[in-house]
Amino acid sequence: MTATPPTRPAPEPAVEPASPSASRAIKLATWLPGPESVRLQNRRKQHVTAALGQVVALSVKSAQGSLIHDVDGNTIIDLIGGIGVLAVGHNHPDVVAALVEQAQQAVNPGMLVVNHDGYAQVAELLNAHAPGDFPKKTILANGGAEAVENAVKIARYYTGRAGIVVFEGSYHGRSNLTMGMTSKYGLFKKNMGPFAPEIYRLALPNLFRMPPGMSEAAYLDWCDAQLEHALVAYIDGPSIAAIVIEPVLGEGGIVPVPAQFLRKIREICTRVGAVMIADEIQSGSGRTGKLFAIEHSGVIPDMVIAAKSLGAGLPISAVTGRAEIMDAPHLGAVGSTYGGGPLAAAAAVASLKLLTDPEFLAGAGRIEEAVRRVFGAVQQDVPALGDIRGLGGMMAIEFIKDEARTPWPDPVLEVVQRSFRRGVIVMRAGLYTNAVRFLPALNIPQEQLEEALGVVAGVVREVWDEKKSETSFSS
Ligand SMILES: Cc1ncc(COP(=O)(O)O)c(C=O)c1O
Repeated sequence: MTATPPTRPAPEPAVEPASPSASRAIKLATWLPGPESVRLQNRRKQHVTAALGQVVALSVKSAQGSLIHDVDGNTIIDLIGGIGVLAVGHNHPDVVAALVEQAQQAVNPGMLVVNHDGYAQVAELLNAHAPGDFPKKTILANGGAEAVENAVKIARYYTGRAGIVVFEGSYHGRSNLTMGMTSKYGLFKKNMGPFAPEIYRLALPNLFRMPPGMSEAAYLDWCDAQLEHALVAYIDGPSIAAIVIEPVLGEGGIVPVPAQFLRKIREICTRVGAVMIADEIQSGSGRTGKLFAIEHSGVIPDMVIAAKSLGAGLPISAVTGRAEIMDAPHLGAVGSTYGGGPLAAAAAVASLKLLTDPEFLAGAGRIEEAVRRVFGAVQQDVPALGDIRGLGGMMAIEFIKDEARTPWPDPVLEVVQRSFRRGVIVMRAGLYTNAVRFLPALNIPQEQLEEALGVVAGVVREVWDEKKSETSFSS
């Protein structure tokens, strides 16, 4: 995604407080992006690959909780947290304290050289809290894609099979294997092939897009039947090493996968001897109100992958799974120079303390309630706001341009950019890039949440007024 260059010489109109008594967190000293942000953005343009995406052209000076202070003296509310990296907020004091303490002791002696207990501490916590009442083991890595690669490698080793089943709309990363597993060709894969073989992509239920006239129950049964059909039409069950599923699609538009479908995947994996892998890089680490989103369904995967908010901003990812599977590869078959290093591990231990605390996790439900309430009211007047969906602190609004629910991506970039100019960061999502997503910190203060959602809601109404003639709703 590229940022729109600043075109406005003056500040956006003042932002109304959520209620007359509420004090505003957003403080705009300049137009956004301000002059210093623009200057630094130019340096980025000159020296950084143009292929690197960016939601907004803001240069950050400091950040705390859900607030970002930029280099021009502006304070804005961050509802995206580095794309779901900051469930505990920017610079959580416990995380910073753990980092400082660790940095003074040892930065990275190397887990492939010596032992450092931080690695085992993270593994122990994940083994204890990941779903499943069986012995578990964990491997740590640096980022999401690397963790997915490890999960697939280990599943293939354990099963002695090659086939990997993935789903439409899924995002698993940008390494060659994970690009192959990722959906949305034009944005993530164009001109990057060839991709790894033995990856099979199947349809995924999306309740907002089920065939008109079909009941939800009939649709879900049909989706189950399609999965069985795939085992005849596309890949033989005994050739499948793993089925990899995001329990809530992230990049694909914040689409919660129905529990019935997750149960069907579980049933098939058990039946054919494949490993069920939950890619919880975006949906895990407390994001939906439980440590892992799949816990809402009661389904127990064989492996679960965490990253993003696990490290509270530090690069760390994890694959946690049945001990017999995780221990299958030969000695030396896995590992990386930096994976699970002491600094990132210290951050993860501190963040996991928060992310396993029910009181802290309750913030997710608060976010879902606010998004549904605020945009439910907007939906009364804006028929193009077709869907408000998600789970806990992982929410999206989807835009459509007619009764047939044809995806309407046009207003979405405008909503993102205009919200930013008024001091709120949100970003796009969806296979058709027609959704705006919210991934705020779970501890965002209620007033900041209301203020920020109020800004976005106001922008949605404005953009609708300007663009409604492009839809068939206006006639
Ligand atoms: C579900 C999912 N899997 C994998 C990845 C890749 O993670 P990373 O960008 O850390 O490689 C992401 C990143 O957004 C993700 O959301």
